[in-house]
Amino acid sequence: MTAQRPLTVSSAPTGLTGRVRVPGDKSISHRALMFAALAEGRTHISGLLEGEDVLRTAEAMRALGAKVVQKDGRWIVDGCGVNGLQEPADVLDMGNSGTAARLLSGVLATHPFMSIMTGDASLRGRPMGRVSVPLSETGARFVTRAGHKLPMAVEGTGKGKPLHYRLPVASAQVKSAILLAGLNCEGETVVEEPAPTRDHTENMLRHFGTEVKVEELPEAGRRITLKGPARLVAQDVLVPGDPSSAAFPVVAALLVPGSEIVVEAVGQNPLRTGLFKTLKEMGASLELRDERTEGGEVIGDLHVRAGRLKAVDVPAVRVPSMIDEYPVLAVACAFAEGTSRLRGLAELRVKESDRLASTVALLEANGAKVHVEGDDLIIEGQKSLPGGGKVQTHMDHRLAMSATVLGLAAEQPVHIDDTAFIETSFPGFVSLMNTLGAGLKP
Ligand code: S3P
Repeated sequence: MTAQRPLTVSSAPTGLTGRVRVPGDKSISHRALMFAALAEGRTHISGLLEGEDVLRTAEAMRALGAKVVQKDGRWIVDGCGVNGLQEPADVLDMGNSGTAARLLSGVLATHPFMSIMTGDASLRGRPMGRVSVPLSETGARFVTRAGHKLPMAVEGTGKGKPLHYRLPVASAQVKSAILLAGLNCEGETVVEEPAPTRDHTENMLRHFGTEVKVEELPEAGRRITLKGPARLVAQDVLVPGDPSSAAFPVVAALLVPGSEIVVEAVGQNPLRTGLFKTLKEMGASLELRDERTEGGEVIGDLHVRAGRLKAVDVPAVRVPSMIDEYPVLAVACAFAEGTSRLRGLAELRVKESDRLASTVALLEANGAKVHVEGDDLIIEGQKSLPGGGKVQTHMDHRLAMSATVLGLAAEQPVHIDDTAFIETSFPGFVSLMNTLGAGLKP
């Protein structure tokens, strides 16, 4: 990562206006590269997110033997086939990306070689036991630092023992790691999730020709079954716009008076759209138009108009469908009429930063009234926020973008210590906001 990039954000000079497209979906981009590397044949990927996180995955798949090149705006991957990856010659550095590290752990567990994975200071502080502990049951050996932290060595087993695993927390990353390991196990891998989480892995495995059975569980959640060893066959992939990135211009346009924008071609997977549902409950003028299917994914254009929002009570069952959107939702709630309660946010504590703590600090530094009760975040909205705060982003891209949105709507300029990490998921964020009229001066 490059040098620190501080940014001072003043209130937007006018309403935000215009039509924009956000970069490709981060979750789908990581998976497209990994699955293409595990497939037999050549995959073309269009719309890949070219953010730091995904570039780390591209680099890792190269180090594992796949040919990965970028040509004329598309990415071309010549895969090695399941069980065909090779031992990397050096440490795999996953940068800031939890998704890359967790998903790749599953792949490495059942490939017969030794590898070492590390990451930046944020990623080295995040828990890897949630994948290394269950994946050890395949026969792979994981050696981590104390507290299951990176760097981590993996001695893969080759054809492994298939897992039957019930996730202790609703995590798409852990589910995906178990399924990816299962591709090179003998027999049925079964994962149960306590609540449905994003299903991009299941969808893409099917797209690459592997059978995946999904059953709804009677109490709640889902059971996913996959039979190994599996064969993946190269398929072209078209990556939709990332709803988690669209969240930032959308909330900015709701909060900056006089705004009217369109965010085009945003992915509408129902397990990702919790924020948009919540904003509508808050009375947002947010409309999905021109819904269509492209490359097997439903996408649509989001039409957004500024207007007063009202407080909301977001149930814990909605968390997986908007897990990355809470910091920016919290900003919206700080400007809403009434007191909002966002429930069940324990998982926010283990994101790129402790997002519960860093979101509270962001809001408090800028004059919002907020507190935590157990795992719930409570925000007393007000008509306008004083702003003027100094914000620490703790190497967290979504904190930096949420702080930017807050600054555009607050009275006094907001000082952000570092916006460099925005590159991990949303390259071009500042210029995209400026095409809408945000007037950011990097
Ligand atoms: C992701 C899953 C989520 C999310 C992350 C991307 C994925 O993490 O926060 O940004 O692509 O599977 P968890 O599985 O830890 O909830």
